[in-house]
Amino acid sequence: MNVARKGIILAGGSGTRLYPITQGISKQLLPIFDKPMIYYPISVLMLTGIREIAIITTPDDADQFRRSLGDGSHWGLSFTWIVQERPEGLAQAYLLAEDFLDGAASTMVLGDNIFFGHDLPIVLGNAAAKGQGGTVFGYRVVDPERYGVVDFDSDGRVKSIIEKPKVPPSKYAVTGLYFLDETASERAKSVTKSARGELEIVTLLNMYLADGQLDVAPMGRGFAWLDTGTHGSLLDAGNFVRTLSERQGQQVGCPEEIAFSKGWIDRDALRALGEKFAKNSYGQYILGLLKD
Ligand code: TTP
Repeated sequence: MNVARKGIILAGGSGTRLYPITQGISKQLLPIFDKPMIYYPISVLMLTGIREIAIITTPDDADQFRRSLGDGSHWGLSFTWIVQERPEGLAQAYLLAEDFLDGAASTMVLGDNIFFGHDLPIVLGNAAAKGQGGTVFGYRVVDPERYGVVDFDSDGRVKSIIEKPKVPPSKYAVTGLYFLDETASERAKSVTKSARGELEIVTLLNMYLADGQLDVAPMGRGFAWLDTGTHGSLLDAGNFVRTLSERQGQQVGCPEEIAFSKGWIDRDALRALGEKFAKNSYGQYILGLLKD
C-alpha cells in the first residue's frame, strides 16, 4: 500500500537562547520580517507536495498556534495538533506522531529552520521520491559543533553522524529537515535518552545508516539554511528575507502563494486571504498574484 507522505513540524522546545523574548511566546511564532517563523517550514512541506501536517507544540503555546494557523484548510492543508509535554528531543516527534502517521512515510522540519535556494522544490521532490530508507541534508557551516555533524570515511562515504561533537570531524552539519520512511516511529521506540536527557534524532539517523538506509545529500552553497535560535540569527534571518523579497518583488515562504500555484485553493479563496491583509505589502502581494 502506498500511503501519501505526511509532514511534521516540530515547534515545541524551550527557546531559552532567545530569553527574555520567548518567556511568553513560542520562538516559532516570532516574526521573520513579515510573517511568523513557522510559515517558512510550512512552506517547505507544501513545496514537497505535502498537505497533511502535524504540528507539535508545547502545552503552553498550543492555543496561540491554533489561533494563528487554524486547521490549515484556508491553505488547502490539514493540520493535526500534537502536544509535547516536555522538550525531550527531536526523535520523540516520531513517537508522538505515530498515530497521525499511521504507516505513512514522513518529512519532518524543525520549526525554527529556514531553507531557501534555487531548485529547492526539485531537491525536496527527489528526497520525497525515495521509497525505502531516509534522506537528510549536509550543509557546510563554520560552527559545526553546534549541530549533528557528518563523519565521512576516506572514500567520502558517511560513517556516522555525531551530535554536537567537541572536535567536529567535518564542516558538514545535518540540517533540520528529515525525510524518513514509514519505519521511523517503530525505530524511534528503541532510541534511549542521551547524557543530556534527550531522544536524539542523530541516534535514529544512525540506525538508518547502520542498515545502509540513509542518504546524506549535499545541500550546496547556492542554498541558504538559516537557524533562527539566537538574537543575532533571528535578526539576520529577517534581514535576509527582507532583502530578497524587496529586491525581487517575490515572496519567500508564502503559504498562500504556494497553495494557489499548486491549485489547492482557487482565485476566490486567494482573494479573500489577500483582503485580510490588504493594508500591508504581504496582503498586496497576495492580491497581486491574481493579476499575474
Ligand atoms: P533547539 O533550538 O535545539 O532548542 P529550543 O528551541 O528549545 O531552544 P534553546 O536551545 O534556545 O532552549 O530546538 C530546535 C527546534 O526543535 C526548535 O524549533 C524547537 C524544536 N524542539 C521541539 O519541538 N521539541 C524538543 O524536544 C526539542 C529539543 C526541540
